[in-house]
Amino acid sequence: VKGGFATFMEKEIHDQPLAVADTLRGRADAEGRLKLDELRIDESVLRLINKIIVIACGTAAYAGHVAKYAIELWCRIPVEVELAHEFRYRDPIVDEKTLVVAISQSGETMDTIMAVRHAREQGAKVLAICNTHGSTIPREADAVLYTHAGPEVAVASTKAFLAQITACYLLGAYLAQLRGNMFGDEIRSLLDELGTMPDKVAEVIGSEEEIARVANDLADVPSVLFLGRHVAFPVAMEGALKLKELAYIHAEGFAAGELKHGPIALIDEGQIVVVIVPSPRGRNELHAKVVSNIQEVRARGAKTIVIAEDGDADVEPYADVIFRIPKTPTLLAPLVAVVPLQLFACHLAGAKGLDVDQPRNLAKSVTVE
Ligand code: M6R
Repeated sequence: VKGGFATFMEKEIHDQPLAVADTLRGRADAEGRLKLDELRIDESVLRLINKIIVIACGTAAYAGHVAKYAIELWCRIPVEVELAHEFRYRDPIVDEKTLVVAISQSGETMDTIMAVRHAREQGAKVLAICNTHGSTIPREADAVLYTHAGPEVAVASTKAFLAQITACYLLGAYLAQLRGNMFGDEIRSLLDELGTMPDKVAEVIGSEEEIARVANDLADVPSVLFLGRHVAFPVAMEGALKLKELAYIHAEGFAAGELKHGPIALIDEGQIVVVIVPSPRGRNELHAKVVSNIQEVRARGAKTIVIAEDGDADVEPYADVIFRIPKTPTLLAPLVAVVPLQLFACHLAGAKGLDVDQPRNLAKSVTVE
């Protein structure tokens, strides 16, 4: 069942290229028009949407954060991202022109179900991104985009996360096409670029041994900080969540720009800081700023583990360890940048002798509020 791997989590990390490929498969018709799996909303209504609110919990919420960057850029619709349990118990401003996107692997997370019901009661349309056919969230939603990650057994979400991010890009492209923000060629080149991602994810998984070696040496660290900007900010939060839930280590993810507003006071001799560096070929000021964040923490004694693109030499003087990822456009980079963090947490927990698939106090699907 574990496909020759010691744990389900490791198997599911290795399933990720397929999870992305399967989620992408068969999304466009012969004319190149993208489609959802189920659509019980008139397309004319979707054309008039003026706000999107993504609701989800845990890892699924971090996929939602990535969605915000892509959908706002491609569709020019404001996107808010909110934890489902926070959305539910305030008075969110939603109406018939709001599209609520609920992301859930299981489709049975009670916090997200309650938020979906609340949104629909206020007149919003709900679109579900879900990995489990026929579960509660897609059944109650007005539209569904299924992720095809296959069953995820390990409590810590990995392949579902990559599939969710992939589905979010597809949703962004679908809405952009529908609303006339993106046309044939642009959509085609985006889909082509997405089509290269499974191989890139596989390439990162190929560095597992090196990542495991680094993780084994750090089994005793008390705390790890993760820094990222732009789409790498949710990746940093996801890296921290993986380490908390699997290795029971204090971990926090920060937006790198926040460092000087407080968190830098945490840095002293030997503090492990993981920094996710954006592509130097993308928005250059973003790359330069993150490189200077690495310098800042290093100068205060931090040991830095840097996730950087192949060929990025600017990080070398400031990195104690570098995990390389293939060249990828900034917006799509979360799909590759998160993989070393998953492997790092998985192997660090393994080195501590912990139960990687079934961490203490956690359930795979949180069916109570
Ligand atoms: O099934 P869901 O996607 O709705 O679950 C949401 C969270 O409970 C889930 O992602 C949780 O944070 C995972 N344990 C993270 O690894």
